[in-house]
Amino acid sequence: MTIQQIYDLALKMGLKADPRGEVGVKKYLAKVKKQYEALPANEKKYFDQSKLVDPYADSSIHLADKPASEVRGVMVGVDIGVSELLLAEELRDRGEKIDLVLAHHPIGKPLAELHEVMDLQVDSFAKQGVPVHVAESLMQDRISEVGRSVHAANHYREIDAARLLGLNLMNIHTLTDNLVQEFLTDFFKKKKMETVGDVVDALLELPEYQEAKRRAGGPQITSGRVGNRAGKVYVDMTGGTNPSEKIFQELSKAGISTIVGMHLNEKSFAEAKGAFLNIIIAGHMASDSLGLNLFLDELEKKGIKIIPCSGLIRVSRVKK
Ligand SMILES: [Fe+2]
Repeated sequence: MTIQQIYDLALKMGLKADPRGEVGVKKYLAKVKKQYEALPANEKKYFDQSKLVDPYADSSIHLADKPASEVRGVMVGVDIGVSELLLAEELRDRGEKIDLVLAHHPIGKPLAELHEVMDLQVDSFAKQGVPVHVAESLMQDRISEVGRSVHAANHYREIDAARLLGLNLMNIHTLTDNLVQEFLTDFFKKKKMETVGDVVDALLELPEYQEAKRRAGGPQITSGRVGNRAGKVYVDMTGGTNPSEKIFQELSKAGISTIVGMHLNEKSFAEAKGAFLNIIIAGHMASDSLGLNLFLDELEKKGIKIIPCSGLIRVSRVKK
């Protein structure tokens, strides 16, 4: 597979698992097209045309061989910084075939545009019964907030380093977060879960969460008690980053009793607790790993070697 084929496969899988569904994604892309067409000419030249077909601004190929060559090995990490890139270079010197470094968390332009994927949460919340105007209004404020917060970062640091080292670089974020969102939602549907403790026990059937627990990063009940009724469980794993803290009150009113998330900031934690929700933090690295693993298995099937680093708990589900 080439780097472009690897990205295209991630995109295909991410779209298939998108909580908006195919129709929802099409509507979103149509909205982007309309916005593009309404731009004045001096703004149009800055518009990234890939946004007309790819709804994930937080994922991208940053550097790739030209002409494209076959990828034999990929070094994959949850976060790729300059240190991981130097590590890749060192490993290459020792004979490891690393044709691509793959990050999960956004770097470069995808980091500066992380907030653009957050719109998908509006549809997710609406599906749970939150009135769409409430979800949209709350998310619009939060999207602006995230947009302001990522703007000042030194976005191109890693890309500049990879270029100097001659390394190919890509990051896939919401694409694989969609995979973990779908996987856990389906997984929980098959389980009989009466209590919050049962939800945690279900998570701990998965090797990523077992390993994370050994590493002290496993599932935690941060609000509610282990014996509480689980009620309706909502998996909150995708959509860029934490939503507006005010959404938790709305989710609670819409009939959700338990939230299973990757991470939650303190403001959101306080609001969710105040809304009487049971909160299970499944674990950040474990959940990001699970999403990545579901994709990386497809690369493994194609004979690509996966070299995990930077927090990735690599578990293969490929039948040998
Ligand atoms: Fe993450």
